[in-house]
Amino acid sequence: MCGIVGYIGKRRVVPILLEGLKRLEYRGYDSAGLVYIDTDASLKRHRFEGKLANLEEHMEALNVDSHIGLGHTRWATHGAPSKANAHPHCDCSGDLVVVHNGIIENYHALRDELTARGHKFNSETDTEVLAHLIEENLDKDLAAAVRKSLKKVEGSYALAVLWAKQPDRLIAARNHSPLVLGVQEQGGSFLASDIPALLPYTRKIIFLEDQEMAILTADSWQVMDLDNGAPIDKEVHTINWNAAMAEKTGYKHFMLKEIFEQPLAILNTFRGRLDPETGQVNLPEAELDPDFLNSIKRISLVACGTSWHAALVAKYWLEKWTGIPVEVDIASEFRYRTLLLDDSVLVVPISQSGETADTLAGMRRAKQFGAKVVTICNVVGSTMTREANGTIYTHAGPEIGVASTKAFTSQLTALFLLTMLIGQERQTIKPDQARELAQALIELPDLIEKELPRLLDETDRLAEDFTKCRDFLYLGRGCNFPIALEGALKLKEISYIHAEGYPAGELKHGPIALIDRDMPILALAPKDGVYDKVISNVEEVKARHGRLIMIGSNDDDNLQRITSDIIQLPTVLEDLNPILYTIPLQLLAYQIANRRGCDVDQPRNLAKSVTVE
Ligand code: AGP
Repeated sequence: MCGIVGYIGKRRVVPILLEGLKRLEYRGYDSAGLVYIDTDASLKRHRFEGKLANLEEHMEALNVDSHIGLGHTRWATHGAPSKANAHPHCDCSGDLVVVHNGIIENYHALRDELTARGHKFNSETDTEVLAHLIEENLDKDLAAAVRKSLKKVEGSYALAVLWAKQPDRLIAARNHSPLVLGVQEQGGSFLASDIPALLPYTRKIIFLEDQEMAILTADSWQVMDLDNGAPIDKEVHTINWNAAMAEKTGYKHFMLKEIFEQPLAILNTFRGRLDPETGQVNLPEAELDPDFLNSIKRISLVACGTSWHAALVAKYWLEKWTGIPVEVDIASEFRYRTLLLDDSVLVVPISQSGETADTLAGMRRAKQFGAKVVTICNVVGSTMTREANGTIYTHAGPEIGVASTKAFTSQLTALFLLTMLIGQERQTIKPDQARELAQALIELPDLIEKELPRLLDETDRLAEDFTKCRDFLYLGRGCNFPIALEGALKLKEISYIHAEGYPAGELKHGPIALIDRDMPILALAPKDGVYDKVISNVEEVKARHGRLIMIGSNDDDNLQRITSDIIQLPTVLEDLNPILYTIPLQLLAYQIANRRGCDVDQPRNLAKSVTVE
């Protein structure tokens, strides 16, 4: 997610912008820039690839006397990290600039239209279309031009705009991407993507909501409806967080913040890629042409850790909906074993970081065999995305917690989209099925959003009884077996409790010997095609006085008969249970680790990206 800071007031703006961007660095970025109106009334823009320090060093040499400006740190989504793609972006005149966080879904069409009307583009970003669009609608009033322009924009944005010809104001607008305002009694108005940037100057914060815009001047602020311009009364909140808490927007850990960001991460991953009416999927950056899609003989999924669990789930989806055989490999095995690959094989390395050594090595080997390599990755411009033939980006935003959460559910979302793309092209998914799959995915973010607060409470209560356990067993069947693995990995990596995930049907082939009153057994039991089988496995545990935790469906009265430790979830399309059922497992691991006083965000011995063998 990008970082935005803006200020207008009596103070010098550059130090405020740099300090604010520094306090947003935790969000992750790959370039930085700022803009201000100089004493000659012209806009001055300074942009650098890489760390904020590059921009800071450059600005130190300049003695800028300006009192209005915007700053930005970019987390690349469209266009690799570079100075040309760094924000702020300007219009053709150079008198108007924008900074933006979010995804403009229809930017291709807008860019084509604007280019046809003579606009010259200087970046690969989706953001730049906003500058040229506003330029076209500029008359005398910047706010009116912004409102008129945004009516043509589809997608998510936290947007700030500055125009040299109206140097007494900043315009801000928000839709599905956070943006806050800050105000000072003695004058001075601020805007930022997140509260930490403003805390050194004010604790008086106004939260913009979706489809709201604001006009900020040196001694006033007003908020209005983006659609009709009607004024909106807004509450001014007083924030009592310290800086560390503010980076986590009040959550105790980044992991918890990122668990709660999953609805937005899933939404942003399918946004602009899925037609809600037809279910049609488009993944242009994957570079998968119809001829190749119809020629695929085998699919090979390669990953490590949590990303490998995503691959295991995708095997169920791809084989069910495309009829193509799928192999799944742990990358550290894949890179050394005999590989039988050729140009009829689609190899999909899956990686949050795009830098995991084993997965990268596996990808390079696959390319030597002439296989088509399309990576699923969360970091634009990472090594894997630069070396693959194509990329499907997860738009989860930077994941700070070492234990992967929102990146995992975003990987599953991207893999589900890939499944739909291939199935639609090979006609193994019929149009009515495509619509059903699409609708189920589209409804998922809101459903998870609604369940999260209850699940946080229920896992907190559950954790009380299990914090002292030394061993855990997680059971699942079918496409939920990999979620049992993921739940076990989450618990072991942040609480240091030994945990194993097992196919429920494997219980009697060994693990049943482990059952005693001390080892909790968590079973995933949604009402799906293998529900009865899971229940019979669970009965085997119950008969041996095992301690059961059941994660099942809201409408399943059977669960109470088995155990009192239950978490129940809404019914969704069976294929999407892996995404939904991951959430309580993430939270249970978090609650137990937190109670054990573990370093949840930076567990011992672990790195966020394993860039060595
Ligand atoms: C997940 O919680 C772990 N942090 C780890 O297993 C991780 O998934 C694995 O190292 C792969 O990382 P990647 O997705 O960046 O390639």
